[in-house]
Amino acid sequence: MHFLPHAQHAAPRSPIRGPALPIGVAVTAIGILFSIGSAPSAPSGADAMPEPVAVMQVPSVHVGATTAADPCADPSVQQAIANGDDAATIAGFGGGAAFREAVVAGNAPCISLSDPTRVWVVVNKSLPLNPPDYEPADLASVPLQMTTPSGRVRSDVAAAVGRMAEVAAAEGVGRIGANNGYRSYGLQVTTYDSHVRSQGQADADAGSARPGHSEHQTGLALDVVACARACGGLDGFGGTAQSDWVAEHAWEYGFIVRYEQVGTPVTGYAPEPWHLRYVGVDLAAAYREGGYHTLEEFFGLPAAPDYGH
Ligand code: DAL
Ligand code: ZN
Repeated sequence: MHFLPHAQHAAPRSPIRGPALPIGVAVTAIGILFSIGSAPSAPSGADAMPEPVAVMQVPSVHVGATTAADPCADPSVQQAIANGDDAATIAGFGGGAAFREAVVAGNAPCISLSDPTRVWVVVNKSLPLNPPDYEPADLASVPLQMTTPSGRVRSDVAAAVGRMAEVAAAEGVGRIGANNGYRSYGLQVTTYDSHVRSQGQADADAGSARPGHSEHQTGLALDVVACARACGGLDGFGGTAQSDWVAEHAWEYGFIVRYEQVGTPVTGYAPEPWHLRYVGVDLAAAYREGGYHTLEEFFGLPAAPDYGH
């Protein structure tokens, strides 16, 4: 499947317009190329997994540069990427907005949107994790009250959400706890299957990612809840003071609310005001300032409301 990136200079953005992302401005060739290939082998113990998943091969094609310079040719960018330093990489591109523009324009061949170790990874119904049984290397405890045992996220994410919750509490918003952080492939099998059993597959697919397709498996996502004496559940989060505050301020700590109501035609998920996805402060600020509502729109990717099988 080939597709063209959409507008390169898009800020400020209007809300999402429909099920299909806008595509096609005058770029010279393929901006980003995804090939859907045969399914990778399932991890052991995952016999119950649903349909095989597709493999995303990330853009390695460098097309007509639409920005003045080639950021990937900059030695400081190359060093930052080699160091695994996402913030320095984005800074080397000129900041979050410039990074986005370069990716959308196909001027960032050194940036893989399928690398699950990077804050810019995109995981959705069309773009599974690669490898499907990916495990983050540096998981740490979420420094919040947890309502399930899935209380780890990447260490940078743990630090960021801890800071966020401290400020929210200090501002009198109330306490923020968490439900699920990292979920392994195996736990996603269990989680998704239980939704299918209780709700049927269509409703399950609107609220739970199939194994290998969940951001929770990257360690970059967590579900937050509102706490008073006790913590509430996910469904009770929307409409709380904490939820309103998170919607307004989470970006300051590097998070986006990944599944907004306006984004459902693009993501295929019902609204989840509790599901925070860490992208780092630079990208979260660009997302906020640009008025984006889905990561797909932000990076000029096609809508992914269905699995296609
Ligand atoms: N609830 C989100 C979509 C997940 O399962 O990753
Ligand atoms: Zn979630």
